[in-house]
Formats: sequence, C-alpha cells, structure tokens
Amino acid sequence: MVHTEDTADIDPARTAAIILVGGQGSRLRPLTLSTPKPMLPTAGVPFLAHLLSRIAAAGIRKVVLGTAYRAEVFEGFLGDGSALDLDLECCPEPEPMGTGGGIRWAGSALDASYDEVVVFNGDILSGVDVRAVVAEHRAAAAEATLHLVRVPDPTAFGCVPTDADGRVTAFLEKTLAPPTDQVNAGCYVFRREVLDAIPSGRPVSVERETFPGLLAGGARLQGHVESSYWLDLGTPASFVRGSADLVQGAAPTAALPGPVGTALMLPGAKVAPSASLTDGTTVGADVQIGEGARVSGSVLMDGARIGDGAVVERSVIGPAASIGDDTVVSDAVVGEGTTVGASCELLAGVRLWPGLVIPDGGLRFSGGA
Ligand code: GTP
Repeated sequence: MVHTEDTADIDPARTAAIILVGGQGSRLRPLTLSTPKPMLPTAGVPFLAHLLSRIAAAGIRKVVLGTAYRAEVFEGFLGDGSALDLDLECCPEPEPMGTGGGIRWAGSALDASYDEVVVFNGDILSGVDVRAVVAEHRAAAAEATLHLVRVPDPTAFGCVPTDADGRVTAFLEKTLAPPTDQVNAGCYVFRREVLDAIPSGRPVSVERETFPGLLAGGARLQGHVESSYWLDLGTPASFVRGSADLVQGAAPTAALPGPVGTALMLPGAKVAPSASLTDGTTVGADVQIGEGARVSGSVLMDGARIGDGAVVERSVIGPAASIGDDTVVSDAVVGEGTTVGASCELLAGVRLWPGLVIPDGGLRFSGGA
C-alpha cells in the first residue's frame, strides 16, 4: 500500500463528491416504502447527514446526490446544503440507471473544473479516511481507486484482490472460496475523464461492468485497504447495529444530535422512571415509554409508543407505531402507524407492514402463560 497520510490535501475547487442514493432499499422494507434508505432516521438524523458530515470534514464542498427512488424526499430535506457548509445539488435520474449509470448521470452536473470525483454509496456507514484514499489515488497515478475492507466472511461480497503495490488484479463475484478477504467498500475516487467515459443513457453497474471493463482494458485501478469502522446498512439487523454504534460512539460522525452514550433521546420523548434504555437505543421525538419497559439496541422513530413492561431489543419501531403492554419485540421491524396489542411476541426477523392492527395476544411465537 502506498503511504498517504502526509500528502492528504483536498482542494475543494478540483475535488467533488457524488453520493449514490437512488436505490429502492428493498431489503429494508417496509421502512423504505415511503422513505428512501439514506433518509431513514439513524441515531436521530437522516442517515445521509452522518455521511455528509464526514464529507464536509474531509474538505470537499461540492456534492451531487444521484437520486432516483423517491427523489423528492431528498430535495425537501437538504435544500442547497449551506446549513452543512456544502454546495449540494440533487440530480434525479429520469429512470434508475444503476450504480455506474448513476455516477455518470450525476457527473454531468459537475463543472469541468472538477477533475477528481469521490463517489460514495449512500448506505455505507464508514470511518474511511477520505483524504487517505484520495492521496493513494494520486500517488499511484490510478484511473480509479477503491476503498477496500477486510471482512470476516467475504463469501457474501464481491472480492477485490490486489498485488503487493495495491494494484487491483481482479473483480470476483460472490464465491464460496474467495481468494482474499478484501471486499469493495462502496467508496471510489475517479479521474474525471474515466467517470465521463462511463456510457450514458442506459443502466450500468459500476461493480459488474465499469470496473471489470477498466481492468480488462489495462487501466490502473488501485485498492486502498483500511481497517476503519465499516458497515453496510442494507438489512434491518445492520441498520439497528449501525444506529446503535453511532449513538455509542463506535461509528464516527459529526452529526449526532446529542452526546454519545447508551441512549439518545430526542425532544419531547417521555420515558417512565422505571424504564431502561440501553445499548445505543434511539428514542425519537415525542416517543412515550411506559413503566418497566426495557428497550435495548433499538430505533424508536418519532411518535412511537412502548407500553408498560414491554421488551424491545435490536428492533425498529416505525413512526407513530404502538407496542402494547408486556409485548416482546426482538429482531423485528414494525411499520409506520402499526398497533401491536398487549402480550404479543414479535421475534426472529418478523416485519409488520404499516397500518396493521394486531389485537392483544394476537401474534405469538410460543403458547404463552
Ligand atoms: P436493496 O434493494 O436492499 O439491495 O438496496 P439498494 O436499492 O440500496 O441497492 P444497493 O445496496 O445494491 O445499492 C448500493 C448503492 O447504490 C445505494 O447507495 C443505492 O442507493 C445506490 N443505487 C442503487 N441503484 C441505483 C440507481 O439506479 N441510481 C442511483 N442513483 N443510485 C443507485
């Protein structure tokens, strides 16, 4: 690996960022039915706010959001980005163009003066040192540079082996016998002319088409391996883990709306004195939590209600959803406005769609008392 930290200099007049936020987030349904994944409240603010805070901290000012699915939600919230000290622009695709097509489309919104572009997947929570990736890209004189992370189980990811100089040697689809534990971490630096050469006007996958094509054509692709915090927030389990890590300070952000601790409380929340909140739980605005309730490692969205004696762990309770007294919710997702009666059991990955009404004792995984 090229050593980089000392040359880490980002000039905001020549380096811009693109964030891909156009995906449907199907693995996070029903939460993503109305809210795109990067806008889901995560540790008290839309997930994107954490990523934007890190982009601003790296010294980048110009950011283009590549939107497709529910594009209007982004524009309403972010405005022009000045509140975040960024110059932010949304670039809605006429139809979803995939990851590579989305990069190309968003790139067309950038002035020619930006000759270097850092691309982020909008659903990755990461402590990557953006300056270090850029510096390695320049030192290697690469066409494109990928942030790579080592994961304990690479079989679930596309693997990206590199040689002793950090040069990418292959892009491998998911395989049961991966030759390396290095995987694509969803953050890239592109030379502008390389980005502009991605075909326009049709869907393109950057992972399956652009990078393998560049490699086959002899381009220099560099891998920047870093062992900082990294999590793909694509599933309910990883979403609650990422949120809890942000609340507890294990994942880096400058956007946490409160002090780091075992729980984050937003304004208007009412928590009974005998209730316990642990393991990085977020309590959204105007949430109510009853006596003796225990909530751990969970995300309670605005206006949710947790009854007396209820137990909620590693779960998402959607906006204005209600959990009855003595009900147990574990590794579950409860959609917006759904009402779960008393003494129910929601376990093991169950997802309740918005607006359902479950009567007292009406959903259980055991025979009950
Ligand atoms: P799943 O449907 O649960 O797989 O999630 P996803 O839709 O987000 O897909 P995936 O995780 O593979 O996407 C990786 C990143 O690319 C995410 O940040 C998506 O928002 C983004 N993305 C995926 N497809 C598109 C697209 O067609 N256009 C744009 N602009 N972004 C996309």
